Amino acid sequence: MFEIKAKDNMGRVGVLKTKHGNVKTPALMPVIHPRKQAIDVGKYGADIVITNAYLIYKDEELKQKAIDEGLHKLINFDGPIMTDSGSFQLSVYGDVEITNREVIEFQESIKTDIGTSLDIPTAPFVDREKAESDLKITLERAKEAVEFKKENNIEMLLNSVVQGSTYLDLRQDCARQLSKLDADLYPIGAVVPLMESYHYKDLVDVVMNSMKELSDSVPRHLMGAGHPMIFALCAAMGCDLFDSAAYILYAEDDRFLTTRGTYKLENLHEMPCSCEVCTKYTPDDLRAMPKKQRRDLIAQHNLHVSFAELRRIRQAIYEGSLMELVEERCRAHPALLDAVRQLGMYACDLEKYDPRSKKSAFFYTGPESLGRSEVLRHIQKLMAMPKKRDLILLPPSRKPYSKFISGKLGDFYRYGEEHDIDLDNADFMVVDVPFGLIPLEVDEVYPLSQNSTPKIRDVDAVEFLQEFVDEFSGYYEQVLIHSRVLKDLEIEGENNLVDAEIRYAKDDVKKIKAIADYQFGVGAGEALFDGNINIEKSKKTGKIRHIYDGKTLIVNMRASDSFLVLSKEGARRLHAAMPSLSNRVVVNKDSEPFALDGKSVFCKFVVDCDDNIRSNDEVLIVNEEDELLAYGKALLGACEIKELKTGQAIKTRKGMKK
Ligand code: GUN
Ligand code: ZN
Repeated sequence: MFEIKAKDNMGRVGVLKTKHGNVKTPALMPVIHPRKQAIDVGKYGADIVITNAYLIYKDEELKQKAIDEGLHKLINFDGPIMTDSGSFQLSVYGDVEITNREVIEFQESIKTDIGTSLDIPTAPFVDREKAESDLKITLERAKEAVEFKKENNIEMLLNSVVQGSTYLDLRQDCARQLSKLDADLYPIGAVVPLMESYHYKDLVDVVMNSMKELSDSVPRHLMGAGHPMIFALCAAMGCDLFDSAAYILYAEDDRFLTTRGTYKLENLHEMPCSCEVCTKYTPDDLRAMPKKQRRDLIAQHNLHVSFAELRRIRQAIYEGSLMELVEERCRAHPALLDAVRQLGMYACDLEKYDPRSKKSAFFYTGPESLGRSEVLRHIQKLMAMPKKRDLILLPPSRKPYSKFISGKLGDFYRYGEEHDIDLDNADFMVVDVPFGLIPLEVDEVYPLSQNSTPKIRDVDAVEFLQEFVDEFSGYYEQVLIHSRVLKDLEIEGENNLVDAEIRYAKDDVKKIKAIADYQFGVGAGEALFDGNINIEKSKKTGKIRHIYDGKTLIVNMRASDSFLVLSKEGARRLHAAMPSLSNRVVVNKDSEPFALDGKSVFCKFVVDCDDNIRSNDEVLIVNEEDELLAYGKALLGACEIKELKTGQAIKTRKGMKK
């Protein structure tokens, strides 16, 4: 019912399947008023809408019509419809005249596509006792709804709303319990007050803590989020659905939504975008119009910018530039900048979902970029790397650095123990933003060369490099720092000039071994590239393309990201050398013949896998006895492979069957 097509950080492009058609996510559901609706939202791009079942239920005429003719006829929309349960009215008026069971039955009877149980939207910052007692009721009602659906064999999809106020452990607890229920969608509730009061940092905490425990296979809906300014941020945290009454509420109030914030008509000298409305009318034209006509035109603009932003987000997920978009959007307001900085605290969570390699380069847009999952991931790899005796630190050149660094490298200053330099026993690394230290041998691997940073460094970046160099140097006996690095980082050291001539000797075998270790883990390089190693390069670019032992192909090196792609022999060698579970996906007995035959591996056949697997990794497919069956490319990260019950986990390259 929900299929993930592309991922970036925790954001995903998906397809939500309903009886009334499929919806591409992230998607926006405009809120339809069952009686007062003036705008045909379908005409402006809505594929799915949301309306309120309680308002229909409370109105005898609407209720009867909905029961007789169905909800789709009532609101004149033939795509998928979600209904809310009256919980929002409960939070505003303190009471509703309907029970949980009644509202579920009613939603089913009017043939909504997605119904909602009567959760209790607990406001932010209430006392803990209140949050806990409300949550207890929300959970009971969610359970009642799911049981009712099962007992009566109901087709309607079911929302189970995450509550818990601003208590992050309660949000986690609620999400964990709801995930066990097997509902169809998980909205995150009671966040409207956080958004209205610009508490975006708290919004990040609430959403990320809910996400931690929500099933990855189920769409998540950020309830009441309708301002396009925050869509990118929330999509990056894993929100698949948004709903907006904002488009019409803001229009009622003569306010224009944009991704940069809100503009009031009375302050407009220029129209804010290039939609049909903004190109046809001037602010004066609109100000002179009757209220209703003006409202509908502003609502049309509001929908236009909202759908345009969602298209941009989906495109960014496909190309792997979602974080660049988030960082750009979050410069619209200091409270949003706080939010993206807070999101940096969750880099470990984001990293688990983030594909290893992306189509687009990493763009540094400011200090927040230092908190991205790619940076964290590289630091972890560096820490795991065996260290030689000496460390030689070089200033950045053009990228890939290793291609442009040659000959005598200039003046160096010495730190740590003093001894003769054996260049074979030294690690050569470039000091650069945003990856800190980049070993020259692996610098072509994504994203170490596939990134771009301004030449004029900001103080955060300089401080990041200083701390990084300082801490990492501790792993070496002697550190030689290039004079330009010293100058750039403002490190003192004029009097320990090294008189030896430092040169970097390019060595292709060392390089492929280092890349294999970086990619598959320490030891992989020695194991893969044993024998009569024969390296074939592209005639056009000079890049390494194929690596053989004699005439037997071991790996190909992918031109776009310099990752190694295994051959049958490569897979055999890696499997023989690396300990169990490293780089492996373990499948059950049933799927063994399919894997051997080269068929792709589905999540439901996976019994275990290496926790370090990320989507786009090259992996080994083994059985429970650790016999190699096949090898292929992971389509998902380890946490998703282990959790999902449907869909492909590994796109198999080849089975080991003769
Ligand atoms: N609409 C906005 N917030 C909420 C919420 O917390 N629960 C429900 N059911 N609807 C909402
Ligand atoms: Zn416009």
